[in-house]
Amino acid sequence: MGSGWMETVAEAQRRAQKRLPSSVYSALLAGSERGTSYDDNTRAFGELGLAPHVAGLTAEHDLATTVMGQTISMPVLISPTGVQAVHPDGEVAVARAAAARGIAMGLSSFASKPVEEVTEACSQVFYQSYWMGSREVMARRFDRARDAGCVGLIATLDWSFSYGRDWGSPVIPEKLDLRAMARFAPEALRRPRWLYDFARSGKLPDLTTPNLVDPGAEDQAPTFFGAYGEWAQTPPPTWDDIAWMVEEWGGPFMLKGICRVDDARAAVDAGVTAISVSNHGGNNLDGTPAPIRVLPAVVAAVGDEVEVLMDGGIRRGSDVVKAVALGARAVMIGRAYLWGLAANGQAGVENVLDVLRGGVDSSLLGMGHSSVHDLSPDDVVVPDGFLRTLGGTTARDRAGT
Ligand SMILES: Cc1cc2nc3c(=O)[nH]c(=O)nc-3n(C[C@H](O)[C@H](O)[C@H](O)COP(=O)(O)O)c2cc1C
Repeated sequence: MGSGWMETVAEAQRRAQKRLPSSVYSALLAGSERGTSYDDNTRAFGELGLAPHVAGLTAEHDLATTVMGQTISMPVLISPTGVQAVHPDGEVAVARAAAARGIAMGLSSFASKPVEEVTEACSQVFYQSYWMGSREVMARRFDRARDAGCVGLIATLDWSFSYGRDWGSPVIPEKLDLRAMARFAPEALRRPRWLYDFARSGKLPDLTTPNLVDPGAEDQAPTFFGAYGEWAQTPPPTWDDIAWMVEEWGGPFMLKGICRVDDARAAVDAGVTAISVSNHGGNNLDGTPAPIRVLPAVVAAVGDEVEVLMDGGIRRGSDVVKAVALGARAVMIGRAYLWGLAANGQAGVENVLDVLRGGVDSSLLGMGHSSVHDLSPDDVVVPDGFLRTLGGTTARDRAGT
């Protein structure tokens, strides 16, 4: 393996930190308020153990599964993130890596690349939308994503517009024009390789959102902050609005950001295909528990009716295995691939996906399973008091007795 190889996601994170200007790195780290949810997301995986076998193991391991009708080579998907300014190839590099490794990708509506370029690089793209703008505007954006070949929609609903972090927020300019660049320069000059990559691409980091306008009108695309304003001013959705979204999209549909059992049931009633148990990587309502703690209760409630995924805190293959064993059909990753992208573009994302695949494979070997489908809660050591049930009611409550 070449010296560029990163053996862990932690190494990818270290390289990303070295390579990115501090404000861009800090924007990727994200988290909100006290950072309780952000910390819990990774800590919780560390609290879970694995129950190994030592003989009678199988050498061949089948990692493939399906999510929302898409066959994927392992139970891992790219979670949608606005990867503005991380790398000149941005989401297109991520899409190429996802396609090269046979997995599906969520594309943020705040992405920096037009959806058509992303679907050209990867045939398994789910377009992610917030509840923002009027129904008419949303329907036009869905049409664009559908026409571009997106094979599903992810609606993310857990954003609470929380701002402020105890360790400080980065200052990101509204637009990277020359004036902003000049202000940004001392930071950027300390990171010459990042600057060099953008200089070579002939473009400044693009802080606009091309997928929020009609195709061909990208020069009128709102800036990241302009789009954020539109979103913040949109009244929050009702469950009827969600049912409208499902109907309007008319295809595989995931609701991302569920923690509570009652919300999971409402999502099923609204007609979704899948949900992702998530707290947005600890970036919004601080104090929400790690998704892995609430996953089993959600799976018990609706796992027979819809596909249940989770995201938040995945940093290694054994984390993927723990989540699948506790009932997730697959997991989605955010920061893990963002570190890879920042460290080394498409190859860095492929590297991170290979690290995860290797970890899933080795965990399956250690636990004596030949397939990810054989994993069960029996394989995981869950300490007392680990699990949480939010918004759960007993069968008796529901029967009204
Ligand atoms: C920098 C950053 C930007 C994100 N942008 C979006 C977004 O545009 N849409 C969305 O649904 N989720 C977004 N997320 C949340 C991720 O999709 C995912 O839920 C989260 O990163 C999972 O946690 P992890 O980073 O620990 O894997 C973002 C996360 C980060 C770190």
